[in-house]
Amino acid sequence: MAGYAPVVEVCSTMSAYDRWRLGVERCVVVPTMGALHRGHASLMEAARRARPEWPIVVTVFVNPTQFSEAADFERYPKTLDADAALCRDAGAACVLAPSAAEVYPRGPLAGVPPLPAVATRPGLEDRFRPGHFAGVCQVVRRLFEMTRPHAAIFGEKDWQQLQVIRAMVRELDLGVEIVASPTVREADGLAMSSRNRFLTAEDRTHGLALSRALREASQERTVARAEERMAVVLSGLDVEYAVIRDAESLEAWREGRPGRALIAARVGSVRLIDNAAWHPRDA
Ligand code: PAJ
Repeated sequence: MAGYAPVVEVCSTMSAYDRWRLGVERCVVVPTMGALHRGHASLMEAARRARPEWPIVVTVFVNPTQFSEAADFERYPKTLDADAALCRDAGAACVLAPSAAEVYPRGPLAGVPPLPAVATRPGLEDRFRPGHFAGVCQVVRRLFEMTRPHAAIFGEKDWQQLQVIRAMVRELDLGVEIVASPTVREADGLAMSSRNRFLTAEDRTHGLALSRALREASQERTVARAEERMAVVLSGLDVEYAVIRDAESLEAWREGRPGRALIAARVGSVRLIDNAAWHPRDA
């Protein structure tokens, strides 16, 4: 029997998107920078589970304003045809891949919203990627304005980003429901990332230390012991942070609060991040 071939509308301009959007009452958006993998596909599945009746819009835009290193922006993989195919197979209805001129008609410096505390205080991504969350908040608010979603899906892989977006949506009263989706990993535990393709075989083996450190930290009952354990597992890597924090504010963890173990480390030419739930009662 001939299979049903799903279709996905690919819009590279706002006029094309607005035409598509006219026929749609509500939609759920999955913001991405492209170079899509199974982790992104899982966000589309989460979108379908959260709001089965709403069409899924995937945005593909490599946002220049959130990169702190020009080289990282320059080499960010661009694979729009493959991305559109993945979106179609994952059940998305529309892919919006706009130009920088349409995202930033007033230039890249305009339209940075006030940042929530979780974007500036923890000393994690905010410390090691200065300016990053200003760019993320700027582009996500703009993408919401462009796509007009009722819900949006973000991955737990970028835990601080998820908390920043939740706080921004609350503080600016953007009226978009934020749904979190768990991290998808390779069979050996490495969290999937568009940048993993730049790891050599040797880097990749070293990179496994991140997920192992998170697993071992979950067996410790105090913050100090969990952080020590992570430091031991990660020794030999160029570690930026490996800490236990309050899962929401990302400030110091206090008894009775949900905790999160968070790691960033440079492995070869790639910066890897990973995180997992942490609670002493699980240990
Ligand atoms: P990008 O890195 O493309 O990620 C898009 C979304 O996919 C994010 O919500 C991210 O957390 C999620 N994601 C990435 N890897 C994942 C994995 N292994 N498992 C589950 N989810 C995963 O994050 C960004 O783009 C940008 O900062 C963006 C929000 C699009 C703003 O430009």
